[in-house]
Amino acid sequence: MWLQILLLAGVVKIESNIQLPPGRTYRWGPTHNGAARMDRAHAIVSSETLTITAQPVNGQPPAGHGGKQIAIKYLSGAVHGKKQLTVTPGGGFDFVGSFRATTTKGTWPAFWLTAVKGWPPEIDLAEWKGSGKISFNTFNASNQVASKNIDFPRPESFHDIKTELRDKNGKDVEVKFHMDGQLVATQVGRGYVGQAFWLIVNLQMEGSSGAPGPSKNTTYAMKNLHVISYNK
Ligand SMILES: *[C@@H]1O[C@H](CO)[C@@H](O)[C@H](O)[C@H]1NC(C)=O
Ligand SMILES: *[C@@H]1O[C@H](CO)[C@@H](O)[C@H](O)[C@H]1NC(C)=O
Repeated sequence: MWLQILLLAGVVKIESNIQLPPGRTYRWGPTHNGAARMDRAHAIVSSETLTITAQPVNGQPPAGHGGKQIAIKYLSGAVHGKKQLTVTPGGGFDFVGSFRATTTKGTWPAFWLTAVKGWPPEIDLAEWKGSGKISFNTFNASNQVASKNIDFPRPESFHDIKTELRDKNGKDVEVKFHMDGQLVATQVGRGYVGQAFWLIVNLQMEGSSGAPGPSKNTTYAMKNLHVISYNK
C-alpha cells in the first residue's frame, strides 16, 4: 500500500520485502545519539502516510552512546527497511519520498542510509537539524564529509526528495540529491560499492539539532516512499 517498489520493466530489478515496518525502533535498538527513545506506538501509518510523533516525557532511563550518557526527554519513532541495500557493480538505487519535516531547534528528523557493518558509509538522503535548513551529506570518514545545507521553505508542507545512488567507477558511489524536482547536490561516497546499508526514517530529538527541544509534541510525516533498484 503506502510503500511500494516501482518496477521499471527491463531496467530495474525488484527488491522484494523492502517495506519499512511501521512502529519499529532502530535496527540496533530504541536509542541512538539524541534525547529520544524510539517506541512502536509513536510511528503510525494512516491514509498512506507515516507520521512520527515525538512526545515530551519524564522519568525515562538515559541512553548510552559513544561512551556517554544522554538524558532521554522524548518518546518518538523510527522505522527501518527489512532488507539490507547494497549498490552492486554497475548498479544503484533511487530513493524517492515526500516529507513534511520540522526545522524547529531541538528536532532532528531524518531519512538516511547507514552501514550495516562498521561506519561510515552513511548517506543522509535528507535531514533537518533544527536550523531552518535541510542537509544532504555523504561521509568518507567522520572528518571527511560532503555536506550541503539549503533553506527548507514551508516546513508545514510536503516536499519531494529524490536521491540517486549509482556506481561511479566500480568502487565509489555517486549520489545526486534532488528536492522538489531540482538537483541540489552531487557527492561521492568512497568505496561504497558492495557495502550494505540500512534505510532509516526517524525523528530523533536534540543532539545535533541543539537543545532544549520543544516542550510540546512534534510531528514528522512521510508518504509515497519508493526504493527503485538498478542493480543488475
Ligand atoms: C570522498 O571520496 C571520494 C572518492 O575518493 C571523493 O571523490 C570525494 O571528494 C570525497 N569526499 C570528500 C568530502 O572529501
Ligand atoms: C502527544 O503524542 C502522544 C503520542 O502520539 C499522544 O498520545 C498525545 O495525545 C499527544 N498529546 C497532545 C497534547 O497532542
